[in-house]
Amino acid sequence: MIVISQPLLPKRFALLRLRNYRQTAEAIRTMIVRGAGTIGATAGYGMAQAFLEGADLDAAYRLLLETRPTAVDLKHAIDRVRACRTAREAVREAERIAEEYVARGASIARVGLSLIKPGTRVLTHCNAGWLALVDWGSAPAPIYLAHRRGRKVFVWVDETRPRCQGASLTSWEFMQEGVPHTIIADNAAGFYMRRGEVDLCLVGADRIAINGDVANKIGTYTKAVLAKENGIPFYVAAPTSTIDPHCRNGDAIPIEERDEDEIHYIGGQRISPRGARAANPAFDVTPARYITGIITERGILNPTQLGRQWTR
Ligand code: MRU
Repeated sequence: MIVISQPLLPKRFALLRLRNYRQTAEAIRTMIVRGAGTIGATAGYGMAQAFLEGADLDAAYRLLLETRPTAVDLKHAIDRVRACRTAREAVREAERIAEEYVARGASIARVGLSLIKPGTRVLTHCNAGWLALVDWGSAPAPIYLAHRRGRKVFVWVDETRPRCQGASLTSWEFMQEGVPHTIIADNAAGFYMRRGEVDLCLVGADRIAINGDVANKIGTYTKAVLAKENGIPFYVAAPTSTIDPHCRNGDAIPIEERDEDEIHYIGGQRISPRGARAANPAFDVTPARYITGIITERGILNPTQLGRQWTR
């Protein structure tokens, strides 16, 4: 399997060959591939590789499952491929999953387009674009469609510490597409909201509990609370594969804790005193009451009514 090596962006666009399911699991764990949908699609292929290798399927399943605990698309994909009977079926199922992300992203673009009026200034967090969801993406998908149709749109891109997916990946995608945007430090979002320079917040999701609570990249919750305080609509965009019917609420969503060195070091340089400790939760949960709507390939869902509106 060949993937884009995301940590090299925006400096260099390079492809990486993952030769077996163990390499695939490692690429997911170390965030060479990242973003909920891309993690799902890649893990699906990883499970298919295990079939092709004649490996112990249960061991491969467990290894892949443990790479990233929060993004439920991973489990969704490996469950589907694990249920196949032959390697041929497994490869076909993995291909189907990847193709579904492309189709769902395109639908999310169409469904969310009505929210992007001419001149809309959007604020987004992390990266939920081409790189994160195979081709279109989720949150940026309506922005891409609006821009391609000639509608004027501007985006505030949160830098998204500590891994800086906004500054390095979302901005890189927007540069390729020609979408006008400005990167801001995470702490600057409230400043622009209060000045009336943000019309809409649009973010992705890694797991959506059935009560409408949403786990997304750390810092999302803060933006949602600020948006409510400032009367700004706050939308989440995600394919329905990100809805976890087994999660009753946000408290049941496992939150990945990553290595503290992601906080201590920037660009290889230590920025904190030796011996200081750091905490590094990779995601947070935004309660449903802060979310105006969830843009899915099936339409815009009301987060507080999700349990009633949604069936797989
Ligand atoms: O830790 P990452 O980079 O894999 O984070 C996932 C994300 O990119 C975001 O949380 C995103 O908003 C949802 S991914 C479609």
